[in-house]
Amino acid sequence: MIIRKFCPTDLKRVFEIENMSFDQSYGIKMFQQLYEMGIGFLVAEEDSYVIGYVMFWIKYESCGHIISIAVDKDYRRLGAGTKLLIKAISVLSLINLDTIYLEVNENNDGAIEFYKTFNFKVDRTVPNYYTNGDGAIVMYLPLRNGKVSSD
Ligand SMILES: CC(C)(COP(=O)(O)OP(=O)(O)OC[C@H]1O[C@@H](n2cnc3c(N)ncnc32)[C@H](O)[C@@H]1OP(=O)(O)O)[C@@H](O)C(=O)NCCC(=O)NCCS
Repeated sequence: MIIRKFCPTDLKRVFEIENMSFDQSYGIKMFQQLYEMGIGFLVAEEDSYVIGYVMFWIKYESCGHIISIAVDKDYRRLGAGTKLLIKAISVLSLINLDTIYLEVNENNDGAIEFYKTFNFKVDRTVPNYYTNGDGAIVMYLPLRNGKVSSD
């Protein structure tokens, strides 16, 4: 499995993975726009087949944000999500950030467990964050001198 930069020919496949992974979709145009804005955008590829993606950016000076991460249902629990998130964190760690944060649906127990394996902590819940009324849990990964802290 390799992790590489997204390229526009991946768009359709990334959109397929997003659709099978979330009830609410960003929409293919939004993916295109985010890419054109220059956000961090990586894909995981197995035998030349895209099986997952991660998007991230610097929200403001000291704060990184994981916008979205998903792995094709048929390839989950095989380490692709971990490889994607490790790479995203290592890219973000090149800048001297204080923290990396993300939002996750409060009912998405699998993803919450996944983030906990990286030592992401629960910050707070935001009620009605999603259009279907579900709340989001905001999780954060504290960094020290821009690097993942062992605390
Ligand atoms: C969350 C997601 C990206 C994880 O990707 P993945 O490739 O399956 O994750 P990994 O194989 O690297 O899992 C690493 C560890 O995280 C934990 N984990 C991952 N998925 C889990 C689940 N469904 N339930 C409990 N723990 C889970 C486990 O500890 C796992 O290690 P193990 O398989 O040895 O037990 C994937 O489940 C996914 O695409 N979900 C749908 C989209 C989504 O919810 N994205 C996050 C939105 S904020």
